[in-house]
Amino acid sequence: MSVLIFDSGLGGLSIRREIQMLRPDLSVHQFADHAWLPYGAKSANDICSRLLAIIPAMVKRVNASLLVVACNTASTHTLPQLRAALSIPVVGVVPAIKPAARISKSREIIVLATERTIASPYLDELIQQYASDCTITRIGANRLVEMAESKLSGGAVDTTELRKLLPSASIPPSADTIVLACTHFPLLKEELEAYFSQQLDFVDSGNAIARRVSDLTPIQEKVEPAEFFTTGTLNQATIALLKSELFTRITTL
Ligand code: DGL
Repeated sequence: MSVLIFDSGLGGLSIRREIQMLRPDLSVHQFADHAWLPYGAKSANDICSRLLAIIPAMVKRVNASLLVVACNTASTHTLPQLRAALSIPVVGVVPAIKPAARISKSREIIVLATERTIASPYLDELIQQYASDCTITRIGANRLVEMAESKLSGGAVDTTELRKLLPSASIPPSADTIVLACTHFPLLKEELEAYFSQQLDFVDSGNAIARRVSDLTPIQEKVEPAEFFTTGTLNQATIALLKSELFTRITTL
């Protein structure tokens, strides 16, 4: 029994950590399509063709019994096609609109995502279904993906750049909840929390996905090794980080 997590890059780690916290018995492989990052700047058709070209082969390679699409941008545009192409369960990470609407008192919610996710009909439907009584401010910030990648590769996060990406004029003062609708963004949570001057509840999909994965997988007697695959190249700091996340092998495809 092994789980495969897919993301365009290291964002999948934010989901993997939640799964491993809940289910340390599971072997959770990760596949990062660094060569093609950022997905948020690609067209829906291109993302779909790319996933159909690379995911089934990786599912086969690691003999995965469950796939987690740990990328909101990919999930919101390709879940039906991926499910049709695979014979294993596919869990998709999508914007956590429902839990955000459950906790927001002011009924003003910010959704922070890639530009592709922000413009997706899937997000429109989630808002319509779960948050139709809320005022939603959508902020597309593709650059935050690269900032998260750079942080995990040992770089510093530049607050001046955060100020440019998220100018205070774009943040409604009465918003009380922010949805981190890109798996890279929880990796910048500390910096984002320090950046916003108003009190905001941060919501992401990690814990809900971990619970879903746990429901779908029997307890394993023995922990099998987990591998990390990337289509790109990694620097030494990233490799050290991945080793500390207990990947036994790191492979550049
Ligand atoms: N981590 C992905 C997401 O959740 C997007 C990253 C990218 O734009 O490549 O949307």
